[in-house]
Amino acid sequence: AIERTFSIIKPDATRRNLTGKINAKLEDAGLRIVAQKRIHMTRAQAESFYGVHRERPFFNDLVTFMISGPVVVQVLEGENAVARNREVMGATNPANADAGTIRKEFAESIEANSVHGSDSLENAAIEIAYFFAGTEIVG
Ligand code: CMP
Repeated sequence: AIERTFSIIKPDATRRNLTGKINAKLEDAGLRIVAQKRIHMTRAQAESFYGVHRERPFFNDLVTFMISGPVVVQVLEGENAVARNREVMGATNPANADAGTIRKEFAESIEANSVHGSDSLENAAIEIAYFFAGTEIVG
């Protein structure tokens, strides 16, 4: 089915001017960028977005990293978009990511791993609504 998923190009990638190269990988995977904006998250926004990880030992470092520079938040649309995006991103830890994936090619570490993608259709809807108004998404 045609789905929408939520994506973030993280500060390690915007810092190295990789937005276009990452977007090319997404588009080559059959995903359409139907909404996109560059923002600098506040600490409160990042803490809320990653709220499910609040009890994890890496939570504070993760939030500090996510607000260390601008990010590009995106809505991606396509056939099986949630799973397709997770395939093209590769494993969370770039050391475990398959060849050709975004994280294998670009990620610096398990934390500075260049992209975020929703892990389920349900979370995709929640994450999209967190950053985008319906009128900003043009399919
Ligand atoms: P993301 O898909 O954005 O979801 C949560 C993020 O936490 C993850 O990508 C990583 O950037 C980060 N993360 C996950 N596991 C670890 C870990 N063990 N140490 C540090 N950061 C992590």
